[in-house]
Amino acid sequence: MAKVFNWQLGREMEYPYPDAKPQRQIAMVFDTNKCIACQTCSMACKMTWTSGRGQEYMFWNNVETKPYGSYPTAWDVALLEKLGPQTWEEGVYTGKTIFEAADGKTEKVLGLLPTDEEWAHPNLGEDEIAGGNVPRGMHINELPHKVWFFYLPRICNHCSYPACLAACPRRAIYKRPEDGIVLIDQSRCRGYRECVKACPYGKSMFRPNQEVSNKCIGCYPKVEKGLQTQCVEQCIGKIRGQGWLSAGDPEVPRPEVPSAARADSKDARAASDDARAASEKVREDHPIDYLVRVRKIALPLYPQFGTQPNIYYIPPIHVPADYLHQIFGPGVEHAIETYKQAKDDETLKGLLLLFGSTPEIIERFEVAKGTARGWNGKGELVATIPLTEPLHVRDSRDAARGVVRLDVT
Ligand code: SF4
Ligand code: SF4
Ligand code: SF4
Ligand code: F3S
Repeated sequence: MAKVFNWQLGREMEYPYPDAKPQRQIAMVFDTNKCIACQTCSMACKMTWTSGRGQEYMFWNNVETKPYGSYPTAWDVALLEKLGPQTWEEGVYTGKTIFEAADGKTEKVLGLLPTDEEWAHPNLGEDEIAGGNVPRGMHINELPHKVWFFYLPRICNHCSYPACLAACPRRAIYKRPEDGIVLIDQSRCRGYRECVKACPYGKSMFRPNQEVSNKCIGCYPKVEKGLQTQCVEQCIGKIRGQGWLSAGDPEVPRPEVPSAARADSKDARAASDDARAASEKVREDHPIDYLVRVRKIALPLYPQFGTQPNIYYIPPIHVPADYLHQIFGPGVEHAIETYKQAKDDETLKGLLLLFGSTPEIIERFEVAKGTARGWNGKGELVATIPLTEPLHVRDSRDAARGVVRLDVT
């Protein structure tokens, strides 16, 4: 086992391979307060990537109702019970990760292999409430609510320390140096399913007719063109922002991009070095860095597992903090308080309004003079959103047409 630094845990931890951070790391922020469980994201992914035989049950993107929903069934509570309660001291995780809790002989990662039955009910627990009943006529006006649920959209986290990768005896799983997307090499995979057992998020899935495993591919053909993934672009609730997260720990060596074209060109190599240096700095003008590293409003899901997931969640403001602490770790109270103030915070409000405003990945944003703007990786302006929708009021009587309007705005 190597020692790697997991910033979400505030400490070093054991991992089977030495650290090899990508040139830049794909990351997303999901605002759980805005998700309406329409499942458009789930269907966008399914129609794009998993409509083949043997993939019928697969939802690389799923949306579950917390606390009772889960896909595969009980994926989180079953592992949490094995791992034991999480313990933190002043922002440092003092419990064991799934790598440290494994016996090291029969398994490299503490995991669970879901049964076919557990894969069969993606909507189990949907809209079930916690905290009591809602009698007819009940009015809910306090925060957090006594009765509550919330929707949790989930995809592969393209973890910095992927458990699936750590567990595969064939070394069929790799993390792309260009963007940190985690992929299963379908030609190397022999269907051992150690990855399915090891992924603590239930995001590696076995395809029985081909005897290989499949997982979310981060829509890499789109990402390579500077476009958002299908599940991000199609999100009806505009809850998702996609981009890059700075490394934040520049002492870790970065691998070269294994591209002959780039290696042949001195200019390209210099550009690659520049990109690497840039990826290490925290950027206040980058949407994901701003939300995760600067404002700390978006938190990882079950950080105690230790994979350093790269999908971040703005926690729901109506849910009791003790449950949120269990699911998102420390920092929940700060994130909720900051989010509640967003209506009076121009930069935060403007950035959240940029979610869902363009199919392109926004790499720089600015909020000024009542307008939020976003630029793509080429420096082109791709989104302009007013913080307040302009209101136009027309005369109720239209003299030119000789009619009276009922709707004047
Ligand atoms: Fe939630 Fe967006 Fe998915 Fe709809 S499309 S379920 S709003 S994440
Ligand atoms: Fe692997 Fe699971 Fe992490 Fe995805 S979420 S990279 S499948 S460990
Ligand atoms: Fe599916 Fe692409 Fe979203 Fe992954 S990133 S869940 S492959 S739509
Ligand atoms: Fe490896 Fe998973 Fe295939 S463990 S061999 S990638 S099924």
